[in-house]
Amino acid sequence: MSEHIPTTELTLVTGANGYIGQHVVKALRDQGTPVKAAVRPGVSPKEAELLKEWGAEVVELDLLNHAQVQKEVEDVTYVVHLVGSINKPQNEDFMTMHEGRTRSLIKALQQTKPKKIIFVSALGASFRSDSQYQVSKWEAEEVIRKSFLPYVILRSSLVIGHEAGTRDSKLITKMSDTVDNSSFIPVISRVDGKLQPVFIGDLTRLVCESLSHEQLQRQTIEVGGPDQVTPFDLMEIIAEVKGIKKQRKVIPFFFVHLGVSLMEKFSSTPKMTLEQLNMMRFDNIVRFPNMENYFDFKLKTIREALGYLKEPSKA
Ligand SMILES: NC(=O)c1ccc[n+]([C@@H]2O[C@H](COP(=O)([O-])OP(=O)(O)OC[C@H]3O[C@@H](n4cnc5c(N)ncnc54)[C@H](OP(=O)(O)O)[C@@H]3O)[C@@H](O)[C@H]2O)c1
Repeated sequence: MSEHIPTTELTLVTGANGYIGQHVVKALRDQGTPVKAAVRPGVSPKEAELLKEWGAEVVELDLLNHAQVQKEVEDVTYVVHLVGSINKPQNEDFMTMHEGRTRSLIKALQQTKPKKIIFVSALGASFRSDSQYQVSKWEAEEVIRKSFLPYVILRSSLVIGHEAGTRDSKLITKMSDTVDNSSFIPVISRVDGKLQPVFIGDLTRLVCESLSHEQLQRQTIEVGGPDQVTPFDLMEIIAEVKGIKKQRKVIPFFFVHLGVSLMEKFSSTPKMTLEQLNMMRFDNIVRFPNMENYFDFKLKTIREALGYLKEPSKA
């Protein structure tokens, strides 16, 4: 295992104002790496300001605008590509969001030949998946793999925890609100797929170390933490960490399915989509463990990662 020597060369981070983006920019800056933080035009001024406070150069970049992308990648040596979301974009499809933007970025990088590209993809990414999210992540991965540029793809499970910045995991925030406001822990029947959540600090470390890891080249790494849990186990752990005791109550799948279908039909920003509901029915865990071949640190458990949710009076 090689010692981690932080890079001192300019690193472009796309999706820099996002939950993972903010943590990555902060970690890179903390280790002394110069960062160009690319954000979507119209970014929240508060998030742009924070990135600047950490010492990053902030650029507004539309990844589909090729001339603009070409100009912004000219001086960068490394790239961390994070733009994307599990939530269906409002004015485009998943394929444009993930594959389209990645293709545009890679086309520009073909001219400048960066030393390495780190792409945070999603566990379960596959052309065979029923989920458009996972298919589009696979297609984005393929654009990178076929570019012949040096890359590391980190296929991450659900990311949890909070160490810096304005954002948190949207799923954990929703679950935490449910734990606070519901009289029981809702369990959906027939939904028992397992997740393998990974601590944000651990994912950030994997990103930073992958950049300068000499033996780690052209690899796709599956990233999951030490625990495998259903979403309802996760909610129970949140309750436990917060010191709240609640019983589980089973809700028939049919009712949830109906509710989510209606939400999808009538809301432009549904809290859950049928695709997400369906994804929760199947295990999404590490199948080909290869992380240990390149990294030798111990990843945090869910309870350790969520310790920050503990209410001060109960700490
Ligand atoms: N969080 C997880 O559990 C998890 C797990 C596996 C993989 N990932 C992947 O990791 C990446 C970062 O996730 P995150 O949790 O940091 O999400 P996030 O907080 O929603 O941040 C996503 C970033 O991508 C930008 N973005 C989203 N949709 C866009 C679009 N259509 N056009 C241009 N920019 C867009 C966002 O810009 P705005 O802020 O302006 O919307 C933001 O900068 C994503 O690719 C996600 O698929 C996340």
